[in-house]
Amino acid sequence: MPRIAYVNGRYLPHDDAVVHVEDRGYQFADGVYEVIGVRHGRLIDEEPHLDRLDRSLGELKLAAPLNRAAIRHVTREMLRRNLLRDGIIYLQVSRGVAPRDQQFPADPTASIVMTARRKKVDAAKMRTGVRVISLPDIRWGRPDIKSVSLLPNVLGKQQAVEAGAYEAWQVDRDGLITEGTSSNAWIVTPDGRLLTHRADRAILNGITRRTLLRIAAELDLEFAEDAFSLDQAKAAREAFLTSSSSFVLPVIQIDGITVGDGNPGPFTRRLQEWYERYIQSIQPVREYAGRVGPD
Ligand code: PDD
Repeated sequence: MPRIAYVNGRYLPHDDAVVHVEDRGYQFADGVYEVIGVRHGRLIDEEPHLDRLDRSLGELKLAAPLNRAAIRHVTREMLRRNLLRDGIIYLQVSRGVAPRDQQFPADPTASIVMTARRKKVDAAKMRTGVRVISLPDIRWGRPDIKSVSLLPNVLGKQQAVEAGAYEAWQVDRDGLITEGTSSNAWIVTPDGRLLTHRADRAILNGITRRTLLRIAAELDLEFAEDAFSLDQAKAAREAFLTSSSSFVLPVIQIDGITVGDGNPGPFTRRLQEWYERYIQSIQPVREYAGRVGPD
């Protein structure tokens, strides 16, 4: 079955889905995006993702090219046309095509594209955990905007991969970990407190992060939105990361230092389990229900 992408009103074979060379997303990274996780035919936290998209667009003073109902429709159509059960929906909005000049074009027409990608949860990694490295956070002052301007993230992730790690945790000038290059960072302190950086301008306020904070509150876990240092992370009882494509993934090593006993700990396992329960509680997409796509 051919993979289908959505480009400005048209559903096209994925390989033919292109935007113009003068798209400002391409030339200036003048655009924003969202990644929505899909699991068991369920769109995870679609509305919070679309709320965050609106916020990002607002920060760029960019009007949404489609209203919420239309975006929801296209998202469902993408699930249906791609028979996507487990994977991600990628959605990007840019300021569109215009002669190359830094200032906003007088009358921009935003571009919107969507792709669907099959991706299974990596059960082995979920079970055994992953390694991370640390590196300086060299990003701009607004990582809270989900902008497609991701060069430091790209370079950081590449460095992680070359070091045989899954992710790079970025460290600010005060020695505090902000977040990963494409995920939020968490630890459990030796006295059993769950910590993750507060949602200020230094991090992307992850949707998975927010859901997990809600779950932690429901479970009566002791938690705080407080930054932690690299040293604290290395001395943590447990560590993990969260994102729409990685869910809750245990971290068992930081810069070669073993976290806890080197195995995913009980806190992390419990949160993984409850996050999975939460996903199961979401209503499957109606258009999709009952259909079985190739895995
Ligand atoms: N990344 N921090 C950064 C820098 C991210 O890029 C992401 C998401 C997150 C986690 O946010 P959420 O829980 O809403 O996915 C945190 C996506 C998955 C990506 O760029 O592929």
